[in-house]
Amino acid sequence: MEKMWAGRTAGITDSAADDFNSSIRFDSRMYRQDITGSIAHARMLGSCGIISREDSCGIIIGLEKILDDLDSGRVAIDPSCEDIHMFVEQLLTERLGDLGKKLHTARSRNDQVALDTRLYFREEADGVVAMLKELALSLTERAEEQKTSVMPGYTHLQRAQPITMGHHLMAYVMMLLRDIDRIRDARKRLNQSPIGCCALAGTTYPTDRRLEAELLGFDGVIQNSMDGVSDRDFLVELLSAFSILMMHLSRLAEELILWSSWEFKFIELSDAYTTGSSIMPQKKNPDMAELVRGKTGRVYGDLMALLTVLKGLPLAYNKDMQEDKESAFDALDTVKSCLTVFTGMIKTLSFNTGNMLAAAKKGFINATDLADYLVKKGMPFRTAYKLCGQLVSSCIETGRVLEEVTLEEYRSLSPLFDSDLYEAIDLGVCVGKRISEGGTSFESVGAQIELARDALSMI
Ligand code: ARG
Repeated sequence: MEKMWAGRTAGITDSAADDFNSSIRFDSRMYRQDITGSIAHARMLGSCGIISREDSCGIIIGLEKILDDLDSGRVAIDPSCEDIHMFVEQLLTERLGDLGKKLHTARSRNDQVALDTRLYFREEADGVVAMLKELALSLTERAEEQKTSVMPGYTHLQRAQPITMGHHLMAYVMMLLRDIDRIRDARKRLNQSPIGCCALAGTTYPTDRRLEAELLGFDGVIQNSMDGVSDRDFLVELLSAFSILMMHLSRLAEELILWSSWEFKFIELSDAYTTGSSIMPQKKNPDMAELVRGKTGRVYGDLMALLTVLKGLPLAYNKDMQEDKESAFDALDTVKSCLTVFTGMIKTLSFNTGNMLAAAKKGFINATDLADYLVKKGMPFRTAYKLCGQLVSSCIETGRVLEEVTLEEYRSLSPLFDSDLYEAIDLGVCVGKRISEGGTSFESVGAQIELARDALSMI
C-alpha cells in the first residue's frame, strides 16, 4: 500500500525495511493517548478557524467512534501500519474521506509522538505512585505490628546492635517515600505540552498551543519547538526514578531471601509467593523475591539503553528516538509487576519473633550498651570500649554471653560495675533507650510511623 507520507518518494519500501521501520508492535498501546491528542488538536483547529467548526466536529465524532471501536474490540489495530499515529489517521480517512485528511494540519508526527508519550507516561506515573503508596502503607502496617519485636541490627552483615523489625521495615518506607517524591517531581516537568511544536520549527498557522495544552490537562507549553520534539528527559527521569526504586526493592528482596533461609528463619513467606523444587521435596524457594532482585538489572539496562540512544543525537527529531519506547515500556511493565508481587508478599509473610529474639541474644549486640554504662559512670569511652572488647573476647572463649558473667567478675574488671548493669544490657532496655530522633526505640519508631502515614495520606 502507498504510504501516507508518499511525496518526494513513491512511498514504496522493501518489506524487510518496512518491518524494520515500523513501531506499531509496541506503540499501539498508546492508541488512547493518540486519539485523545487528536481530538484536542481538531478542537483547537476549529476554534482557531484553521478548519471550519463543522469539519472540526466531524473529525472529533469520527475520532470518538474510532476510540470506541478500539476499546470495545470491534476494530483491531492493523499491524501492517507503520505506527499508531498513521493507523488512526488512515482509519479516519478511510471513514471520512477528505475530511480525515484535514486532521494533520499544523501538526507533525514529531510533536504527536512526543505528546502521546507524555500523556501515556503521565497516567502511568500516577499509577506507579498509587502502587507505591499501597506498598508503603502495607509495610508501615507490618512495621507497626512489629514495633516491639527485637532482632539483631547488622553492619557488614555481622550482628551489631539490637533493633526492632518495625524499625528495620520503616527504613524501607522512608526510601519508598522518596521514590514517590522523585516520580511526582519528574511528573511536573513531564506535564508540559509539546503539541504545536510541529516538525521542529513551529507553524505558520494561527494555532493556540495553550488551548490545546489546557484541553489535555498540561500545566503549560514547552517554550522552544526544537526542544519540544527532541526532549526525552522526562523518560530518562522516570526511568532513573524507577531504577532507584528497583534498587530499593532489590535490597529488601535480598533481606527477605536471607531472612527466609534456614540460617535465619526470621520470616516465613506465604506459600503463594514461593515455589518448590522439581527434585528436592523439602524446598520452599523465594522465587518472587529473587525475581524482583533480578529484574532490577533489567530496569537499569532499560535506563542505559535510553541514555545511550539519546547520547550525541543532533537536534531535532531523529528516527533513533523511536527506540525510546521499548525500553521505557519494559521498565514500566517490570516495575508494575514487581510492585504487585512485592506488596502481596509483604502483606502475607509471617514473622518468627522468637527466632529474631534468639538471634539478638547471641552475638554480643549489647556490648555498646555495656560500654555506655561505664561511660555514664565516669569512664572515658575509649577505655570502656577496650574493656568491653576484652570481656567479649573472654566470653567467646568460655562460651558465655554478657548476661552470664557474674557481678564479681565484672567488678574485678572495674569497680564502676554494679548490679544495675544487667538492666542496662537487657535487650528490651537497649532498644527502648534509643530515643534519639529516628532511633530504634518504640516511641521513635512510632513517630516514624505517624510521619509516614501523614505523608502518604496526602498522596
Ligand atoms: N514512530 C515514530 C516514533 O516513535 C513516530 C514519529 C515519526 N516521525 C518521523 N518523522 N518519521 O518516533
